[in-house]
Amino acid sequence: MAEAEHAAVGGWDFGWLTGRVSAGGLAWEFGALVDDACAKASSVLDVGTGGGEFLDARQGLPARTVATESWAPNVAVAGRRLGARGVGVVHAEAAGGNAHQDRSRPVGGRLPFRAGAFDLVVCRHEAFVASEVARVLGAGGRFVTQQAASSSDQLRQLLALEPAPHPAMDLDLLVSQARAGGLVVDDARAGCETVTFADIGALAWYLRMVPWAVPGFTVDRYRDALTAAAREDLKLYQERYYLAAHP
Ligand SMILES: C[S@@+](CC[C@H](N)C(=O)[O-])C[C@H]1O[C@@H](n2cnc3c(N)ncnc32)[C@H](O)[C@@H]1O
Repeated sequence: MAEAEHAAVGGWDFGWLTGRVSAGGLAWEFGALVDDACAKASSVLDVGTGGGEFLDARQGLPARTVATESWAPNVAVAGRRLGARGVGVVHAEAAGGNAHQDRSRPVGGRLPFRAGAFDLVVCRHEAFVASEVARVLGAGGRFVTQQAASSSDQLRQLLALEPAPHPAMDLDLLVSQARAGGLVVDDARAGCETVTFADIGALAWYLRMVPWAVPGFTVDRYRDALTAAAREDLKLYQERYYLAAHP
């Protein structure tokens, strides 16, 4: 816990957890699906790139690849990482979480690009507005996204906290948002990824990285709850959704 309290958190880089967390159980590998899609694309937009880690891990990116990020601290982090690969990072307006979006009236999420600017839009674990994705895709374009349901209830339970209310996310919601935004859904899958933390330090550091799961979390404030949780099975069962669509 002492290590987890002081280790740096930044970007969207989970490298500190290498060897201390394992994940499995999904029938698809989103990175491989994105690699396949990138190989067929001549221009790519990554919506909400975080620190650019996922995009940077892609093998081949077309010369015209651009990323957006709405959380200001990560714009510079992603800019440094992706700039080295010739990928521009644009500070763009955040989209309201998909689970919060009214089907007919999405909030925010404007993409500052002309219509038809890209032939592939990628979005991993970031909110998106389907009509904006459809608008920036040209004819023959594709959208691939992996979305995640909230795991805050499980994280809060590990800390013996009551669940905090939040709207539910599911595959039907994502499919109906995609259709309402003008996309034709080609593939839609739901699965569960089991994430296992090897020790309480790994869980504590993860909670620092995802500050929205338990707002106000610090190792110091939750030391007793973490000590009690260390005796539990430190697993999260995370719902994941995969969607492929075209305009
Ligand atoms: C789940 S990440 C996904 C990033 C990227 N698409 C990926 O898959 O690696 C979601 C976003 O949370 C942002 N983020 C990190 N800490 C945040 C905070 N304290 N408040 C708001 N957003 C934050 C990151 O910039 C990131 O874009």
